Amino acid sequence: MKWIKEKEIYDHPPITPEETEEALSFCVRATIENLEYFGDGFPYAASVDNIYPKVENRGWTTGFYTGQVWLSYENAQSADDRERLLEYGNKQVDSFYDRIKALYDVEHHDLGFLYSPSCVAACKLTGSAKAREAAVSAADKLITRFQPVGEFIQAWGEMGEADNYRFIIDCLLNLPLLYWASEETGDKKYRAIAEKHIHTAMANVLREDDSAWHTVFMDNKTGLFHHGATCQGYKDGSAWARGQAWGVYGTAMAYRYTKREEYIGYFKRVTGYFLNHLPKDLCPCWDLTFGEGDEDEPRDSSSAVIAACGMLEMSRYLDKEESGYYTGIAKRLIRSMNQGYRIQEHRPGNGLLLHGTYSKKSPYNTCTPEGVDECVIWGDYYYMEALNRLKNPDWNIYW
Ligand code: GLY
Repeated sequence: MKWIKEKEIYDHPPITPEETEEALSFCVRATIENLEYFGDGFPYAASVDNIYPKVENRGWTTGFYTGQVWLSYENAQSADDRERLLEYGNKQVDSFYDRIKALYDVEHHDLGFLYSPSCVAACKLTGSAKAREAAVSAADKLITRFQPVGEFIQAWGEMGEADNYRFIIDCLLNLPLLYWASEETGDKKYRAIAEKHIHTAMANVLREDDSAWHTVFMDNKTGLFHHGATCQGYKDGSAWARGQAWGVYGTAMAYRYTKREEYIGYFKRVTGYFLNHLPKDLCPCWDLTFGEGDEDEPRDSSSAVIAACGMLEMSRYLDKEESGYYTGIAKRLIRSMNQGYRIQEHRPGNGLLLHGTYSKKSPYNTCTPEGVDECVIWGDYYYMEALNRLKNPDWNIYW
């Protein structure tokens, strides 16, 4: 498989407004067709043979499904569909409310992934007081993971132990929940913590060649960088595709909320690395270390759509020329997903985007293998978010 260079991406055609409209309508219809299938449950993080098992509201990914419901609500074609989606989305908000009140499976940093596309979205779209309360409670829980020595939000595990004293690049997408909570409540403590975490992440997560560490261990005595490691990437020092993609969207979010000029530079670095390690069809391998000769390595389509959303977000703040450049790249990535990676016919329980990779085991990494060459629920969500961003450039984001 041949790598292409960033500038060759422009040899691909961009998605047209008609294709965008068609793809978004397809996703909305497929989401509506799945409502009955999932009922009061949620799709699991990854599909099995492209059909999601139905699960209760646990794990880190259920918010993406609710986010998909809200994106469908915003783009529904008929009043009946809108009403049905609204009712369904509100029931899911009830589930998220119950989950945070019962503190069920919330001892980790993924509360932004859970509560932004579900409850923050509901609050913005419907003004739901229950959604607001749930999301503020989630933000309260998230800040309990802040480690003052090193100034970061600890990702997983027992707080404070050296073995768990780390943050991961993905966490940049959990932080918008904290900015929203400060805005909503008037209490600056949430954003102060988010800002500290962003500062620590930006100072430590990128390597000299602009690839990103997946996880960063900090010294629990000095608060300084201890070492970087991967969990889901191929090996320590390789660039896990989704980590790099979280970096693209995460640095765009960091700029959105802080407006610190230097974060534009971080965005360009992390994005440049991602774009210079794509195969010809623009869908990355699960780790960007793979290239020519690695045809058998699985892809991760979810990384392409996450990165596209990040570029579309950053385009809001750049000058006309740069904004056009990154929007143009996002349009080409999304067209490629649309042409080669989207499901053709919807079956109950199907995802939307094929060929995602959740966690692939290698001889060197520490992940539990699952969801290789499958649909992954955040891939579906960000595919829809990217289409929605292209259709509605002024979209009031859920993050
Ligand atoms: N945040 C975990 C993942 O991207 O798989």
